[in-house]
Amino acid sequence: MMTTNNLVIFDTTMRDGEQSPGASMSRDEKVRIGKTLERLGVDVMEAGFAIASKGDFEAVRAVASVVKESTVCSLARAHDKDIEAAAEALEPAARKRIHTFIATSPIHMKYKLKMEPDQVVEQAVAAVKKARQYCDDVEFSAEDAGRSDPDFLCRIFEAVIAAGAGTINIPDTVGYALPHEFGALVGDVMARTANSDRAIFSVHCHNDLGLAVANSLAAVQQGARQVECTINGLGERAGNASLEEIVMAMRVRKDLMALDTRIDTTQIVPASRLVSSITGFAVQPNKAIVGANAFAHEAGIHQDGVLKHRETYEIMAAEDVGWSANRMVLGKHSGRAAFKSRLEELGIEPGDDNDFGDAFVRFKALADKKHDIFDEDLVALVSGNESMD
Ligand code: KIV
Ligand code: ZN
Repeated sequence: MMTTNNLVIFDTTMRDGEQSPGASMSRDEKVRIGKTLERLGVDVMEAGFAIASKGDFEAVRAVASVVKESTVCSLARAHDKDIEAAAEALEPAARKRIHTFIATSPIHMKYKLKMEPDQVVEQAVAAVKKARQYCDDVEFSAEDAGRSDPDFLCRIFEAVIAAGAGTINIPDTVGYALPHEFGALVGDVMARTANSDRAIFSVHCHNDLGLAVANSLAAVQQGARQVECTINGLGERAGNASLEEIVMAMRVRKDLMALDTRIDTTQIVPASRLVSSITGFAVQPNKAIVGANAFAHEAGIHQDGVLKHRETYEIMAAEDVGWSANRMVLGKHSGRAAFKSRLEELGIEPGDDNDFGDAFVRFKALADKKHDIFDEDLVALVSGNESMD
């Protein structure tokens, strides 16, 4: 099996992410996202599905024309016309990849494709050979691999590697797998596929059970070296593995994962904001890494701890992912230490112990009435003019 110390980050915000109902993106919006993803340092960005529409074809082409540092990719079913459209849209790219796929699970082959397994292998091989006529970098995905027969996956992967696929993707298309199960599937298939060392194995996990990131990490521990993910976890149905969570898990738990990515983590929050503003999908406040509360501390015990040593309650620094700083939210759970620290930041002299004690009592009384206490409230409170409500 091919193992490296690098984890390839394949972003599919503009393809699978765009498949979220209501998240469609115009050509110009994709260009803006593409440039942001390039700054972020993604290795591969899937810019769309060129055959899907004239608009998407043009969007893939426009992204391919402006992005130079990251590989630009288009999705294509295992059909000649899809692959031709992908190749044409990717023509201007400095680095390009065609990503072709076909379903491999019994339920998809029988009811959706109405094909026998032998025909599926034959079509997959033909698609990879066709894609290789246009570019050296070809990825093959076994759609619904999570519910496919592992022996059949080994068979089809061996055949497409021989046909020239350099990346083999194992999607949990319906987000059905559990982490230990998915990790074991990936490890087993990598170990039993002939010539697996000629390809990078990849995973693409959906979040229907909220396990997309956990499943991806389990697969990485078994040797997968590419993760497909999206900004803010956008994607079909409940979404895909979230890029920011994968990347920060790699970084914060390098002791266990021992892999690097090329991501400039300080660009994570700007990328999240851009995708949210373009799609109109708000980021939930408690979303890991990019939610407004991800680095906010309100409980007095936590605030006191963070003021004494930030690692008491923070496993990463807000600035490392692009926030300006952690946020101490003053509210009824806050303690004296955070109250005093905020007064000092505002240049307000807390006064002697008595004055400070009185101000703190007034602050607590106000916090019982008012959910968040703003800086203006503090100024008013210390100067004796109680509430700003
Ligand atoms: O979820 C999936 O299986 C996909 C493939 C096209 C990779 O999005
Ligand atoms: Zn998907």
